[in-house]
Amino acid sequence: MLNIQEIKTHGHTLRVCVDPEPEREGRSALWPSVGEYPIYDPFLYTTMTTDDERNERFRAALSQLAPGRRILDIGTGQDLLWVREGVQVGARHGVAIEVIEDAFHKAAANLSAFDLQDRITLLLGESTNVQFAPRADVCVAEIIGSLAGAEGAAAVLADARNRHLEPGGVVVPHRAVTQAAAVRLSDLFPEQPVAFAEASLPYLQSIFDWHGTPFDVRLRVESPSASALLSEGASVEVLDFNGELRTDQRTTTRLAITRPGYIDGVLTWLNLWCLPDEEPLDALCMKTNWATIYLPLFECPVPVVPGDVLELTFAASLSDDGVHPDYQLTATLHTADGQEHHGSLASPHHGGAFRAHPIYRSLFPTG
Ligand SMILES: C[S@@+](CC[C@H](N)C(=O)[O-])C[C@H]1O[C@@H](n2cnc3c(N)ncnc32)[C@H](O)[C@@H]1O
Repeated sequence: MLNIQEIKTHGHTLRVCVDPEPEREGRSALWPSVGEYPIYDPFLYTTMTTDDERNERFRAALSQLAPGRRILDIGTGQDLLWVREGVQVGARHGVAIEVIEDAFHKAAANLSAFDLQDRITLLLGESTNVQFAPRADVCVAEIIGSLAGAEGAAAVLADARNRHLEPGGVVVPHRAVTQAAAVRLSDLFPEQPVAFAEASLPYLQSIFDWHGTPFDVRLRVESPSASALLSEGASVEVLDFNGELRTDQRTTTRLAITRPGYIDGVLTWLNLWCLPDEEPLDALCMKTNWATIYLPLFECPVPVVPGDVLELTFAASLSDDGVHPDYQLTATLHTADGQEHHGSLASPHHGGAFRAHPIYRSLFPTG
């Protein structure tokens, strides 16, 4: 049952469309994308420490790469997960860095109870501003977003390779890719309203409080109906952490429509490799804390049939904080009968428009 709730942020009172308990009823759930903001709390950290698909890949990589080496854990969080794992499997020493003060203090308390604490140095700050010596041989950084680069992994790991890693040092994860396919938003939420999950409201409020004004946050869709995908999927963002790592990138791809229906945007999801030769984590079909992200392109749903093609340009460029990317999408739907429909979206990391697209006007209704 849909209802309207209010959140107050910096003098603005916002009305928000809310779905009280989508998770409990086993339906799709809509959240703002949270990972790219400094608003982590114990609940969000727990969603990661209990993510077996993710954790078994990071563990396998560390047990192969860490023994006898110096390791660096960027974004260690409150649990010091990967630096502890690294020294437990035989790393000589580990440096762990965390930027959120509260998480850092919890990590310090956890470290004092850890039996191998003498082999770990914990630092407060942003890895891009921190200095330490000697350099590490292996850098582990779980700063991967549901849109792969959204948490700043390209800029942070380019800096880490430059300043924190020995020449020839290795980064874990090895590769992250964002995939995209054409969808209609309402098909992702069959027989239910499109509204923010009630549990997500404190996070929506924290993002707006952090930024100072409301803006069109990225839309995180948990457990979408997979039958909603109307095209094949294609890679739109590629991050090769041990290869050529670009902070700005632009990809144009042609998504062939495979099923009849309507589309108004794209659904994106993460593929992640911690080691080069493993089966990647796939956030569309595996149970993991990474969810899909819906990006609106067209003002109204457009009918499609097999044979139509959605030509999509997906660009990432550094935002004014020099770390997190802004995303810019442009799309042309070429229909088999020769028509063209144009759509676009600016999805900055922070700021930008508020209530620009119809979906945001319905999620944040005015009086
Ligand atoms: C997705 S969480 C991962 C937490 C933990 N490492 C894990 O894997 O469960 C990302 C963490 O990295 C921190 N972080 C992100 N970028 C950072 C940076 N450049 N320097 C230090 N900490 C960073 C965030 O504050 C957050 O605690």
